[in-house]
Amino acid sequence: MALIEFEHVKKAFGPKVVYEDLNLSIEAGEALTIIGGSGMGKSVMLKLLIGLLRVDGGVIRFGGEEVQGKNEREYGPVRRRIAMLFQGAALFDSMSVRDNVSYGLREHFQLAQKEIDERVIKSLTDVGLPETIDMMPSDLSQGMRKRVGLARALAIRPEVLLYDEPTTGLDPVSTERINALILETKRLYNVTSIVVTHDMSSAFQISDRIAMVHKGFIIASGTVEEIKRVTDPRVKDFIEGRAPEDDDVATLLRYGG
Ligand SMILES: Nc1ncnc2c1ncn2[C@@H]1O[C@H](COP(=O)(O)OP(=O)(O)O)[C@@H](O)[C@H]1O
Ligand SMILES: [Mg+2]
Repeated sequence: MALIEFEHVKKAFGPKVVYEDLNLSIEAGEALTIIGGSGMGKSVMLKLLIGLLRVDGGVIRFGGEEVQGKNEREYGPVRRRIAMLFQGAALFDSMSVRDNVSYGLREHFQLAQKEIDERVIKSLTDVGLPETIDMMPSDLSQGMRKRVGLARALAIRPEVLLYDEPTTGLDPVSTERINALILETKRLYNVTSIVVTHDMSSAFQISDRIAMVHKGFIIASGTVEEIKRVTDPRVKDFIEGRAPEDDDVATLLRYGG
């Protein structure tokens, strides 16, 4: 049984249809990368999974259990098992690294202070930044902030990690480091990862499977080798880095999404 299943999911914002019929399964322990043009619904998919946005129709299952109809309170246990790294790794600027990393633990888990301290140190060590524990986010580079964001996610010992554009805006060295960390995290914690990216070199490096969203549907999914062999020009152009000819995307690129 798949750990996560989207079945005939529909989602629109007013007249703007984001998902007409979304079908996707993710196995436990798998690293799945979601690719697709700007504004195609990649972030929306992650938000639907954790209940930050609600489906208009269809079913989302987590561990075999339907989650799409849960209320805020019922979503709590789901969100404790899934950690999301938002686009931009929003750390709290007025809090130290220590307080940032322990934030989720203090908010959502009943843990002794000693356990919290240990988890903060362990998570920061796993991302290679134990020395930053008493620093403020403003003391850190963009790449380091992303890694602290990952430490904060790891601290809750999630079964699933959602990464939304984890390497966007990073220089090549920091990008490599984040890719390596995603792989290492998967190995160390046996975590299921869903990574949204439009960086194909990252996607090829970290994915067990890649799925492409386009205008409301998954138009291709498969292993890296399978995706590279897809002949659909919409997929081929995207993975080979050619500018999308699609009007919507061209407009978004020109005027911002
Ligand atoms: N809360 C919202 N309210 C209205 N429209 C939204 C909302 N969130 C996303 N959208 C729209 O849904 C579409 C998909 O957005 P998103 O998933 O963020 O795209 P991306 O693939 O770039 O992550 C876009 O057209 C976006 O403007
Ligand atoms: Mg997005």
